[in-house]
Amino acid sequence: MATTSAPDGIEIAAVAPDSSSAPLTQSVVLVGFMGAGKSAVGRELATALALPFVDSDELVVAEAGRSITALFAERGETDFRVLEESIVLRELGRAARRACVLALGGGAVRSDLVRRALRGVPKVVWLTAPADELWTRVGRDAGEAPERPLAADRESFGRLLAVREPLYQEVATLIAETAGRSPAAVAHALAADWQDGPR
Ligand code: S3P
Repeated sequence: MATTSAPDGIEIAAVAPDSSSAPLTQSVVLVGFMGAGKSAVGRELATALALPFVDSDELVVAEAGRSITALFAERGETDFRVLEESIVLRELGRAARRACVLALGGGAVRSDLVRRALRGVPKVVWLTAPADELWTRVGRDAGEAPERPLAADRESFGRLLAVREPLYQEVATLIAETAGRSPAAVAHALAADWQDGPR
């Protein structure tokens, strides 16, 4: 696995051959578990790359007309997943035609169809952090956006992370460790890495 150090020392690991040095014309898809910082990093990265930012959770909420927590409670996780999958597949199609930064909800990679579609995306970044840090961040966000019905307790959170990690690994072309880093620092390291050109 090739690794490279961005200007501020953030380790970024390439897990598949980098296909291009043209960051501004290519979409970037962010995957990772709850609390990984996909939305926060995504917004910063989109600004740095001058691309639109798209967040699949926000689209689910807009299209369902209710919060994710309400969707789970009223229609169940299965309905949420059906809607999430269709939105993510649609947005991946759009992202292939028009460059953007697209953040996927943490569970979107459960879908075989989504993972298959991600195989065609040159830049899929897995934002990682240790389980305890992810849990702390989720707790910190809880008051603002109760959109994580699956973050019920630390034990089940850890079990779900273990199930998900191989899925993120499968689709990632790049892994970015976020522990102890601000979203802006991670985003700028990613942007700088691409603007430096091919490795
Ligand atoms: C989920 C993650 C959440 C949201 C929903 C389910 C998951 O998104 O889509 O609560 O299954 O991991 P974030 O990863 O953006 O928190």
